[in-house]
Amino acid sequence: MARPRIAVLGAGKLGETLIRGLLQAGQVRAADVTVTAGHAARARDVAARLGVKRAASNAEAVHGAALVLVCVKPQQVGRVIEEIAPHVRASQLVVSTTASMSTRFLEARLKGRVPVVRAMPNTPAMIGKGMTALCAGTHAKPSHVAKAKRVFDAVGRTLVVDEAHMDAVTGLSASGPAFLYIVIESLAEAGVKVGLPRAIATELAAQTVYGSGAMVLETGEHPAKLKDEVTTPAGTTIDGILELEDGGLRVTLIKAVVRATQRATQRARELDS
Ligand SMILES: NC(=O)c1ccc[n+]([C@@H]2O[C@H](COP(=O)([O-])OP(=O)(O)OC[C@H]3O[C@@H](n4cnc5c(N)ncnc54)[C@H](OP(=O)(O)O)[C@@H]3O)[C@@H](O)[C@H]2O)c1
Repeated sequence: MARPRIAVLGAGKLGETLIRGLLQAGQVRAADVTVTAGHAARARDVAARLGVKRAASNAEAVHGAALVLVCVKPQQVGRVIEEIAPHVRASQLVVSTTASMSTRFLEARLKGRVPVVRAMPNTPAMIGKGMTALCAGTHAKPSHVAKAKRVFDAVGRTLVVDEAHMDAVTGLSASGPAFLYIVIESLAEAGVKVGLPRAIATELAAQTVYGSGAMVLETGEHPAKLKDEVTTPAGTTIDGILELEDGGLRVTLIKAVVRATQRATQRARELDS
C-alpha cells in the first residue's frame, strides 16, 4: 500500500495517539506526517518526540496531504477550518475528531465537494484499546470511510454508524470509560472493605472488567447468557446480583448514558447555531 502524507491539525493528546498508532502499524512514515498545534512549543515537542515534521500554519500543513486529521477542540475548529478551506481540495480527505461537530458544519465551511468523515474515539485509544465510531459526510465515498477506518483501527476497534447515532456514541463509548472507572474504583473499594490490600483489589477489579468485556466481544454471546453462566444456584453471585438490582445499578447506568447523550445533542446544537 502506498504510504500517504498526513497532516494532523492539533497534535494534542488524541492527535499524538493517532500518529503513534499509525507509525506502529506501519501505515505511515514519520517523514510523511506534519503536525500543528496552538502553541509552537507543543508542535515542536511532538515533532521531536515522534520524528515527524511540523508546519508553521494549518494552511501549510495541508498542502500535499492526502489525509487531513483535525484533532482540535470544538472552540478551535471553526478557525482551523477557515484557515485550511482555501487550500483543501476534493482529492483530499478531511477526518474530524472534534466532539459534537457535524459533517454538515465542516462541509459548509470547506470549499467544493471535499470528502469529510467524522470520528468519535475514546481515551483507551491511547493504549491501542480504543473504540471509535465513524460516520460519512455527504461527499465521502466508501473508499474514504475505509481510509479513515484504517487510521482508527490502528488504535483499537472501529465501527461505522449513521451520523444520527453520533450523540449516542458520545454518551456511551466516549463517556463510558469514566463510568467504568467509577465501577472499577467501587469494586476495588469493596475489595478493601472485605480485607484486600488496595493494589490487589484494584488489579482484580480492573482485569475483571477488562476480561468480561473481552468475553462479550470474543464469544459474541449475549451478556445476560454470560452472566447466567457465572450465577450458580444458591451460590455467591446471585446474592451480589440481588444487591445490584436493589441498588438500581442497571437503571443508573442507563440514565447516565441517556443524560450524556442528551448533553451531546445539546452541545451539538449550540455549536451548529
Ligand atoms: N482524547 C481523546 O481520546 C478524545 C476522544 C474523543 C474525542 N476527542 C476529541 O478530539 C479533539 C482533541 O482532543 P484532545 O484530547 O486531543 O485535546 P487536546 O489535548 O487539548 O488537543 C488539542 C490540540 O489542538 C491544538 N490547537 C489549539 N488551537 C489550534 C489551532 N488553531 N491550530 C492547530 N492546533 C490547535 C492544541 O495545541 P496546544 O496544546 O498548543 O494548545 C492541542 O495540542 C477534541 O475535540 C475532543 O473532543 C478526543
